[in-house]
Amino acid sequence: MNLAAEPLKTETLMAAVDVLQRSFRPVAERLGITPENYPTHPAFQEARQFVHYLNRESVIVYLFADGVNLVGVGGWSMARKDLGSAWLKRIAVVPEQQRRGYGAQIVQYVEERMREHGFTKSVLLCSSADAPLLRFYEAQGYTPSSTTGAGVKRYTRMGKAL
Ligand SMILES: CC(C)(COP(=O)(O)OP(=O)(O)OC[C@H]1O[C@@H](n2cnc3c(N)ncnc32)[C@H](O)[C@@H]1OP(=O)(O)O)[C@@H](O)C(=O)NCCC(=O)NCCS
Repeated sequence: MNLAAEPLKTETLMAAVDVLQRSFRPVAERLGITPENYPTHPAFQEARQFVHYLNRESVIVYLFADGVNLVGVGGWSMARKDLGSAWLKRIAVVPEQQRRGYGAQIVQYVEERMREHGFTKSVLLCSSADAPLLRFYEAQGYTPSSTTGAGVKRYTRMGKAL
């Protein structure tokens, strides 16, 4: 099924936070991420911190629905150093709707928005310990380059030409 996308609005803020928390909590559990060792992880972010994050990083977020329910979110922001690149951010599908191709659809939708704005490369950070997620992004055409951070905040940089 094709998902319908709409930009995040004030009225849908709480719903977006709920989707993010529900999608990221199983990941946090699986990877040993807790509010103590990683308070800013999306699994634990409340509305106020989410808004702060969106403003700080200038992230544009879309919500995706299957006609009845909200199934996911996805966002992007301009890279600060490499002007041709844009960051893929906050990609999530609620657990009960995963593995139906929605994650791939959301990534493609966001990449299309980046292309419209003239970006030629999409980059992202993927938890280095999250093997299924690394495979997901590789299936979307991303290749790993380097790593950054340590412990539960160790991330693999990945990129894809648009
Ligand atoms: C990553 C995510 C958006 C993928 O959404 P999705 O709708 O399941 O994606 P698709 O159906 O398009 O692709 C599924 C593929 O992703 C991979 N995958 C991603 N996470 C997986 C997991 N936890 N377990 C198994 N496979 C996983 C598999 O390769 C799977 O393919 P398969 O079903 O053929 O085995 C979703 O798992 C999610 O919301 N995860 C939690 C939030 C997160 O980590 N976001 C990324 C932040 S950068």
